Amino acid sequence: MDLEARRQFAPDMIEILKGRRMRRLRRTAWSRRLVRENTLTVDDLIWPIFVTEGSGVREPVPSMPGVVRHSVDEAGAAAEEAAALGIPVVALFPYTGPDKRDEMGSEALNPDNLVCRACREISAKAPNMGIMTDVALDPYTSHGHDGVMAGDEILNDATIAQLIGQSINQAAAGCDIIAPSDMMDGRIAAIRKALDREGYEHVQIMAYAAKYASAFYGPFRDAVGASGALRGDKRTYQMDPANGLEALREAEIDLAEAADMIMVKPGMPYLDIVWRIKERLGAPTFAYMVSGEYAMIEAAAANGWIDGDKAVMESLMSFKRAGADGILTYHAPRVARALAAG
Ligand code: PBG
Repeated sequence: MDLEARRQFAPDMIEILKGRRMRRLRRTAWSRRLVRENTLTVDDLIWPIFVTEGSGVREPVPSMPGVVRHSVDEAGAAAEEAAALGIPVVALFPYTGPDKRDEMGSEALNPDNLVCRACREISAKAPNMGIMTDVALDPYTSHGHDGVMAGDEILNDATIAQLIGQSINQAAAGCDIIAPSDMMDGRIAAIRKALDREGYEHVQIMAYAAKYASAFYGPFRDAVGASGALRGDKRTYQMDPANGLEALREAEIDLAEAADMIMVKPGMPYLDIVWRIKERLGAPTFAYMVSGEYAMIEAAAANGWIDGDKAVMESLMSFKRAGADGILTYHAPRVARALAAG
């Protein structure tokens, strides 16, 4: 290009750049679809369900409108419905009354506890559905903590011994994914070793690697009957909300201990953590949109302050944009239905 042409070129370019309009691609539905960077499908959903004693029971959880506790038979029916909707995995959480709670969380080791019975029921009713079970003692302890206590202290290694028993118990009942949510150190390696030793090499582990000490778990603790029980808070084992680099270290350690997948929890206030873990470590990374997040959306929607369905879709898409491979959400069946309707 000679000097004269170049002189000509520069003002032309400026004119063209002035014509750059980001809105051009947003004008029509087909165009928006064409350039959309992320998609949400039913394959991204894990549905947490609460299980309670009895039969034919679907008991509403007051702080989570639209969510119920299912008796074991109803959990089987719910899993069948979820499977028909294409949801790949259900995650089980038991409601345990004060009568079955003790200092050590012994009920966790009972082969006939609610979670084990629900695993067997769901395997029978929805054999192609993935079943995830939570490993932590809080549904079963009289003090509501995730571990074994001595005085005010949550004992790390004594807790791990219980968690190993709980994991084997759940694997024997047919769960597919063990999800330790207790935040003890070294439990992933210990559980992996025990599972392999007992012949459960195929059972996956999704580590709650970065689980924060959060106010957003409130409604969940109602749902599992832990709110009344909980003495103090969980800040000596769950993470400080101020920390981000620490979450990377937690995830790195859990992967080194042979976790198959990583989870970040809660969800929306911690999307930066999802992003950093996925970018840095590249492992399958999941986020848990927790009970408090569910309750906030439902409460605002019930008041007519937001459009609940749209807010849910937008929230779930934000997880995908942050790099999550999937989301645990109490909205899963509703979202699956909406996605199917198009
Ligand atoms: C307990 C556990 C909690 C949740 C999942 N597993 C609560 C807690 O740590 O107190 C929270 C889920 C939710 O709020 O939806 N190990």
